[in-house]
Formats: sequence, C-alpha cells, structure tokens
Amino acid sequence: MFVTVFLLLVALCAHKGNGLEKEAGRGPGHVSVIIVGGTGDLAKKYLWQGFFQLYLHHAGAGNTFSFYGGGLSPAEKATPVLFEILKTVSCSKDVSQERCALLKEQFLRLSQYRQLKTLEDYQELAKQMEEQLQQEEMVEAGRLFYLSVPAFAYADIAEKINSSCRPTSGAWLRVVLEKPFGHDYRSAQVLSTQLRNSLKEEEMYRIDHYLGKQVVSKILPFRKENQRFLEPIWNRHHIERIEIVLKETLDVKGRIPFYDQYGVIRDVLQNHLTEVMMLLTMKLPQNLSSSDEVLQNKLEMLNSLLPLGKNQAVVGQYQAYKEEVQKELNQTKDRVSHTPTFAAVVAHIHEAQYEGVPILLISGKMLDERVGYARVLFKNDVFCLQNHNNVHCKPKQIVFYFGHGSLGYPAVLVSKNLFRPAGTDAHWKEVTEHKDAAVLGLPVSEYNVQVPAEDKEAYAELISHIFAGQKNSFVSTEILLASWALWTPLLNSLSGIFPRIYPGGSDNGDMLDVHLKGKEIKYNSEVVIISPDEMGGTSPSSYQVMKGKFRSAEMVSAWTEDLIERLAADMQDAAEAAVHQGGVFHLALSGGATPLALFHRLALYHFSFPWRETHVWMVDERCVPPTEQDSNFHNLHEHLLQHIKIPYHNIHPMPVQLNQRLCVEEDGGALLYEEELKKLVNDSSLHFILLGVGYDGHTASLFPGGKLDPLGKSLVALTESPTKPHQRMTLTLSAINRAHRVAVLVMGKGKHELVTQLSRTTENLNRYPVTGVKPANGSLAWYIDYDALLG
Ligand code: BG6
Repeated sequence: MFVTVFLLLVALCAHKGNGLEKEAGRGPGHVSVIIVGGTGDLAKKYLWQGFFQLYLHHAGAGNTFSFYGGGLSPAEKATPVLFEILKTVSCSKDVSQERCALLKEQFLRLSQYRQLKTLEDYQELAKQMEEQLQQEEMVEAGRLFYLSVPAFAYADIAEKINSSCRPTSGAWLRVVLEKPFGHDYRSAQVLSTQLRNSLKEEEMYRIDHYLGKQVVSKILPFRKENQRFLEPIWNRHHIERIEIVLKETLDVKGRIPFYDQYGVIRDVLQNHLTEVMMLLTMKLPQNLSSSDEVLQNKLEMLNSLLPLGKNQAVVGQYQAYKEEVQKELNQTKDRVSHTPTFAAVVAHIHEAQYEGVPILLISGKMLDERVGYARVLFKNDVFCLQNHNNVHCKPKQIVFYFGHGSLGYPAVLVSKNLFRPAGTDAHWKEVTEHKDAAVLGLPVSEYNVQVPAEDKEAYAELISHIFAGQKNSFVSTEILLASWALWTPLLNSLSGIFPRIYPGGSDNGDMLDVHLKGKEIKYNSEVVIISPDEMGGTSPSSYQVMKGKFRSAEMVSAWTEDLIERLAADMQDAAEAAVHQGGVFHLALSGGATPLALFHRLALYHFSFPWRETHVWMVDERCVPPTEQDSNFHNLHEHLLQHIKIPYHNIHPMPVQLNQRLCVEEDGGALLYEEELKKLVNDSSLHFILLGVGYDGHTASLFPGGKLDPLGKSLVALTESPTKPHQRMTLTLSAINRAHRVAVLVMGKGKHELVTQLSRTTENLNRYPVTGVKPANGSLAWYIDYDALLG
C-alpha cells in the first residue's frame, strides 16, 4: 500500500498542472494495464513506450496505474527480459531530465511480469488486482488487456478474461486486439462470434495502426476545416482519381509462414488502405468525435463500393520470394506460391458524388522506395498555350503524406493552385521553408504544407484513445465484416492467378506500372512472364512472351488476360488486312464459355475494329430457340453483337429453328447455311475461324466417335453431342480447313491434361476431333494460356 500511495504523491508533486483534473466523462481511479505477449516484438518496439507515454500524461491527473507484462514463460525467465525492455522507454523532448528519470523509475516499479497460461493464472492475476485495490483503498477505473499474441489465441484468452478478470462493477474493461482479424469473410465472422461470446462490442478495440498515424487521423479534420473549399470540388466533376499507396523496400524474409498465408491484399489493402479510402470518401460526419456517427458513415461508404472483380486487380510477386518460401516452409523446388507481394486494385463507389472516379489502392514489398501517401488528384481544365510553368498549369492535388519517401516526414500538401488550407488546428503548423524535394510531380515549394506540431507515434496515439474510450479510431465488427465482404470475392477470384514476377528494387523499372481502362486495371507493359527456365533471370528483359510450336503449328502462350489481348489484336490485324485487300472480313465464332472473354475485350477495347465490313458467322449452334441462355447466338449477341456497330445484314445466325421446329433434317437448315456461305464468301473460305476445344477433344460441334468425314463436300452438318442439348448444327472439318486462318483458344487449368494429351497425339479424329483441324491453304495457331499449358 505504501508504495502506491507514495508514488501517487510523487506523481502529483511532479505534475505541473493543477493536480486532479478529470478528463470529460471519466472518473479518476486505478487502471490496470495487462499486455498479454508483453515481451514480444510489438510490445518491445511500440507498446511499452506507448503505455509509458500514457503514464507520463496521466500520472498526475488523478489516475493510478499498475502494469503487467503477461506471457507463457515462467516469471523467473521472463522478468529480466521484460525489465530490459522497460529500461528503454523514453520521454518526449518537452519533459525535463529529472522528471523523466523520476517517472521512469515509478513506471518500472509499477510494472511486473506474470505468467498467463492457464485459467488459474488469470484467476491469480484477478485476485492480485482485487487485493491491491482493497489494501490501498482505491476505486477501480478500469482494466485494459492488450492482446499482442497470434489471433488464434484470442478467443481462448477472451474467455479467460471474461470468466475471471472482469473488473469491479462500475469500472470499464477494454480488450485490445491486433490484426489479422481473420483470413476471409467466413473466418472473420467465426472469430467475431467467438469473441462476442466473451466480450461486448464496446469492450473490444481492434487496432489498425494506420488510424493512429498523424496524417491519417488528420484526414477527417482536414476535410472539415476546409469544407468551404472542398465542398464544391470533392466530387466526380472535379476529382480525376484517388490513389492510396504504400510502397515498401523490405522483403518478408522471416515472416513467410504468416505472409504466405496472407499476401499483400490481406496484410495491407484489406485493412490499412481500406481505412484510408473510407476516411477520404465517407460522408463527412457532423460531429467528428461521435464514434457512432463516424463508424456509421464509414460503413455506408464501404457498402456503396461496387464489387471487386478479377479485372479490378493486378498482382505481382518479387522474384526471390519463391526461394524464401521453399526455405522457410521446407518446400521442394517445384513448390510454387501464388501469394502476391504486390497488388494494385481499382475500386469504384456507386454513388452520384463519386461515380466514375477510380480509387487506386496499391502496395508492395521490395519496391524502389519506402513511402506511403493518399493523393486526391483533381482534373485540370485549364489549357496552357505557352507558359507551362504557370501555377494554373500544374497538377492540382492534395497529398496526405504518411511519411518516409523524398519528404521524410508526415505532411498534408495542397497544391498552391487549389487553395490555402485553414490553419485552425493547434496541433498542426504551416511550414514555408522547404528542402529541395519534389512530391508526386511537384516541388514542395509549390504546395501549401502543413505538418504536425509534434511527432507522435501511431501506437502511442491509439493507446491514449483506448484510455479515453474513444472508439472512432478502431475497427468495429460491422466494418471488419463489410471490409472482408468486399475483399473476399476478389481474393477468391485471384487465387488461381499467377502473379507477375518482379526482380525487386529499382530493377523493377516500369514493370509494375498500371493503367486504367474504364473500370478495369492492367499492367501497362506487355511483359509476360513465361518459360519457367527463364524465371532465374534477374532483369525485366528476361521475361518474354512465349511463342513456340504446338502440334507442329504456331503457338502463342501467355497469362489469360494477355493471351486474350493478343488474340483480339491478331484478329483485328487479320480483319484490317482482309478489308484492305477485298473490302470484307468473314469471321466465324464459336460458342461456349471460352470465347466470352475475347468478346468482352473486342467490345470494350477495339473501337477501330472494321465491324462495318465484317460478316459474323457461327462455327456451331445448339438446337434451341435463340432466346435461350443455351443458344450460342444468344451469348454472342449478349457479349458482343449488341455492343458493337455492325450492320444487321452482316450477322449470320445458324438457322436451327425452321417451320417452328428445331434441327429437323428435312427442313434443310444446314443446307441453307451452306448456301448462304457459298453465296457470300469467296470460295467458301472464311478469313478467320475461332475454335475452342472441349475436355473430350471436340471442336466446333464435332464430337469423338461422331461422323466427321473431313474430305466430304458438305460445309455444314447436323451432329449429336453427348451432353445436352444433344442436337447441334456445325461447320464441318471441310469448311474449317478451307479457312485462311484458324485460331484454337484453350484456357484454364482444367484443360491441362487435354493439352498434354494433344501434344503427344498424332491425328486421331475418332478420339480427338480437333486433331483434324489442318487448314489446307491457310494457317493454324493455338492460343493456350499458362494454366492450360503448364497446369
Ligand atoms: C503491417 C503489415 O500491418 O503494416 C506489414 O503487416 C507492413 O507488412 C506494415 O510492413 C506497414 O506499416 P508502416 O507503419 O511501416 O507503414
């Protein structure tokens, strides 16, 4: 008892203010802080320092404290380790040396190590806390448990806290949790439910340390203080795009067992960058200190995001990662990890205010520099005729600079051609003297720059918020789940995608540059990583598009999207050449799912495709009415024809429905199509035929075991498919082999087995009808994606 009373007195004397001031809404009393994992890395680096700062600020303000470092090791072993850590805490510059030494000594005396392994250990701890309160006749203010342990231990510890360590009535319980909060939506939900069995929502403080960064926590106040400037321009009419970027130079060596399970999207984008995005785009709360309003507005923003599809992301992996995985996970050489260490994602908000404004979220390891920022880039509608150095010709942007990089310190920068921000926040100051640096294309001198008056570390800031019960800088369960609901479908759709391999550091060159097209994002350079033997190379130039031979014909192979891009480009080249030569291009397209991505690409990106001169024919058709989902024509119309400007009379659906019935031989549908072909196409030689291959080796609607008659005369025939709908109409091998160019598109891991078989088989029409595709005077090319080629 004597020790605590004495320390309280010393603290009171040492405090320069007027003693027992209360913070609004919180009574003085005794606070117990328990760091579970108290000798771990995070505790060592940030937590003890943060709690010491808390102690510094509050020691004389009416509260008394006890600090416990908890861990699994026995006390004899861990106590000296804890005290080594505690000795390293330091005071800020404004605290005199004497006061600092005194407070540090008190802090050490108020701290102790406790083994916290079993339920009995927690019960013992509770007993000790209660005895201390009684003996020293103290009123309890609250208990703060900081769980700095792996997430799998949370539920168990929360249960122990709930059953044995709840504070005396009237006092608060706050339990702080560190990410990861789950691995995807499902696991986050499970973890939340488990925690909710032991803790109330208001008792949980989920940390995202980005919310403690000074610049990040300045975003909302900045928007509020400058509302009169921002209100008219914070919308789609003025904002060009928003970029939220965290570039790191370090690798993840030593963290692979964790990192390989998570990757950059789960590690950084799902939490830190998403939080920043919410702060930038959420509806501005009336009252910034109302946690309910802040969290509610954040949630609304998250819920108004459009779903993230595969085309809204590109992923990469630094080259040495593969070996690090093999080493740290004891894997063999052929273990390939798809875990991305780099990702660029474009998000869109489905709200009139931001409709069409791309929000880029980018992060990666082993990049050229360490820097973090959020930039709001405004459209510049001024056209400068002569002097491009004029201030109104320069980029208009607001940069929330988290730190590091060329500037080296956190700052909010507003380009001078926008406005001069209000200077109403006493914790921030304007700086006008700048070092010779540039930030995102502008010299610092061309910005109005505000910096924090005093540097504050993120964890220390958040610890003071926990102590104040200020929940708006923490992650609520609802927001956590909404964020996972956004990211999980994207993570799922990326799971089979090979990341682009990058060498690391400045050698990355422009390999990871991205460009935006509509709502989609792509790598800017056409570099495609191929040839597994080449993966050992170190410079970007060692990554090449793979071209080779497959079944003695030309083969083009690449990652799926690049392959589609290439095929679409080749198709356009063929179209232009044919139109140039004969004024017309005859194109025959297959049905099924494989060509949909190609249709999509043609519709969205090939504005100069000569559709007016193109005739679209069908390779095959299912005998169903054209209004049905199963109809190839229906799909062709949905995914391509309705999006392009093509004359109606250039479209040639197969006549599967005649006399109000489907594919009846006597109705002569096949013959009709053949005659139309003969009438319109020179020598019945189509310019370009796009084929696919089924798992069973069929192509067009020519199935194994069916009559194929490659040398027969008919160009169109009725056939039978082993799967429903059974009846089909198809171009025959003789029609196909008369074409100028035939492309066979094969995609997806599921086709790998087939590709392997085909690479070994000579012509075997009965077993693999596709082996009969051999244009007599034209050329054949196989377009095979890496999934199908490499498995
Ligand atoms: C952590 C991630 O949450 O944030 C790390 O797990 C990442 O992988 C770090 O390096 C970035 O934080 P900061 O504060 O260094 O920008």
